[in-house]
Amino acid sequence: MFTVRINEGARSLEVEGGPSLLASLAAKGVWLPSICGGTTSCGECANVVHGKFENPSSVEKAILGEDRLARGMRLACSVTVASDIDIHIPDEVLAIKMRRVRVAAAREIARDTRELRLEAIDGDFTFRPGQYLRVVIPPHEGLTESFQRAYSFASPPGGPTISIIVRRSPSGLASVWLHDRLAVGDALDLVGPFGTFGLPEGSAPLVCVAGGTGLAPFFPIFMTMDASGNLSERDVVLVFGAKAREDLFGLGEFEAIARRWSRFRFMPVLQEPDDEWRGAQGLVTEALASIVGDSGGEAKTWSAALCGSPGMVKACERVLARHGIQGDALRRDSFA
Ligand SMILES: Cc1cc2nc3c(=O)[nH]c(=O)nc-3n(C[C@H](O)[C@H](O)[C@H](O)COP(=O)(O)OP(=O)(O)OC[C@H]3O[C@@H](n4cnc5c(N)ncnc54)[C@H](O)[C@@H]3O)c2cc1C
Ligand code: FES
Repeated sequence: MFTVRINEGARSLEVEGGPSLLASLAAKGVWLPSICGGTTSCGECANVVHGKFENPSSVEKAILGEDRLARGMRLACSVTVASDIDIHIPDEVLAIKMRRVRVAAAREIARDTRELRLEAIDGDFTFRPGQYLRVVIPPHEGLTESFQRAYSFASPPGGPTISIIVRRSPSGLASVWLHDRLAVGDALDLVGPFGTFGLPEGSAPLVCVAGGTGLAPFFPIFMTMDASGNLSERDVVLVFGAKAREDLFGLGEFEAIARRWSRFRFMPVLQEPDDEWRGAQGLVTEALASIVGDSGGEAKTWSAALCGSPGMVKACERVLARHGIQGDALRRDSFA
């Protein structure tokens, strides 16, 4: 057993030198951020850590860079505890917990898109709009171990239940299980909250782009602003890209918000519209380019928030960069 001293000894844990520091800490209920599930690709598990460790691999070097390595930062998923160590973990991360929930309701809200409403069995979830949780998927169909996948909170904080919206990926290990195997009444473990996604601060006009289930974090974000009256303070356009009409969801919620707030505009865009569709059509990047292009050069003072697949987020970033929207004026959440 080795001692892990957290934050100059504010807390100490006795851990076994498991497969990785990430796993050793998780076994003790300390959940570091991770999107890649410990496969050393997301960089989320970086922490300042001191002790005897193996030399960084080329992948770890590429993710962290010389600067951060020199400051004592390592990826918790790629170091093994083999001595007593010191680690700095932000208080907010130390507060992350595993919670047991029960599926209170489940419904198909669009093609291959399932909303799960979850009620806490032990304690409730505190989170900020824009954050996500990790669902623990139990071993099934030949898998010997559980694993975790990230899903954004899709309902505002403070309610009796929380919602997530899951797109069924063909052959996707977690999403197929969440669609086909998980039933109302079943229990499920969640870890969280994680993430820093949200809207850029200030009152500059804001353009938000969501692709598919990338709309999920915008539910708590705009429902909270709707309830607090903050939507009177800035011009907002929310572009929601989907393939076809059967892939749309959330129209009722966001159109209701748009009716209440004249400065909030909701714009669904279909790639493959049917004959009756009267809304915008094409790619979200085209809709975005026309919105910022119509600003008469003002777009460089605007802010933006993007959420969806990594490809969509990157393509939108390129459009925004051409109009001077970047740096602190831009927030993004990639469903990598
Ligand atoms: C911060 C964050 C928030 C997220 N929020 C959401 C959310 O709110 N809603 C949501 O739906 N998703 C969200 N995601 C994505 C989610 O975490 C999962 O990545 C997604 O559900 C796919 O997981 P999976 O286990 O089903 O697929 P995996 O098994 O991990 O497969 C990944 C991809 O490979 C494809 N694939 C797998 N096997 C095969 C095969 N044999 N042949 C061809 N293709 C294959 C799958 O179709 C899938 O697209 C989020 C991700 C992040 C990082
Ligand atoms: S958990 Fe993703 S890099 Fe460590």
